[in-house]
Amino acid sequence: MQALGVDVGGTGIKAAPVDLATGKRTEKRKRILTPRPSTPEAVYEVIAQLVEHFDWHGPIGCALPSVVRGGVVHTAANIDDSWIGHDAAAELRERLARPVHVLNDADAAGIAENEFGAARDLDGVVILLTLGTGIGSAVFTDGVLVPNTELGHLEFHGASAERYAAARVVDGDVTQAEWALRLNEFLQHLERVVPPDAFILGGGISKNFDAYADVLETRATVVPARFRNRAGIIGAALATRGIR
Ligand code: BGC
Repeated sequence: MQALGVDVGGTGIKAAPVDLATGKRTEKRKRILTPRPSTPEAVYEVIAQLVEHFDWHGPIGCALPSVVRGGVVHTAANIDDSWIGHDAAAELRERLARPVHVLNDADAAGIAENEFGAARDLDGVVILLTLGTGIGSAVFTDGVLVPNTELGHLEFHGASAERYAAARVVDGDVTQAEWALRLNEFLQHLERVVPPDAFILGGGISKNFDAYADVLETRATVVPARFRNRAGIIGAALATRGIR
């Protein structure tokens, strides 16, 4: 059984079919730039193109950078505000005439890591953070997801924590070494408010994990994600199990 995983990000919309038994992509992923403005209408158009590209007729899982409850989008931090209040699942189901499940992108990444990646053998409370344009979070307790946590929006240094410690700050005046110290501060803050047994660090920057791991001083174990930027696609596809 396969599903198409779609991951909508602030800069790109990526998709690939995924084998649900192995968590492996069965075709090369396709990426299309996120339209500007990234309104629901414009993004649906891109998703339709991706479905056509893969000539896809099966179930579709779609990850958004938003709190999503019952298919309805409740927040829009790095996509257009007009997403708020939108029933994305119902809309996509109708347009594409296929079963569709919509969920938060970090939760999707967490599902992939939990089943086939870095969290597979971790018990207790595990927090996955996706470090990219923003900071997404997925919290698991003994493998069970607590959906829609937004730890990247905790107030930290007077603003959303993601403004201070997301990987995107490295592009500006902040070096990777400086950013790593910021990340360490944020992890220590999380340990004070929601102490986990382990942190998993995801997003593209997790490939450099060895370069900054030494400065991370937490009581919890810290490990890099296995799937990095692929986790959203894989987890979105996995999340379609059980939908009709
Ligand atoms: C959003 C989260 C999302 C994260 C990563 C944050 O700004 O609020 O929902 O998971 O970015 O995309």
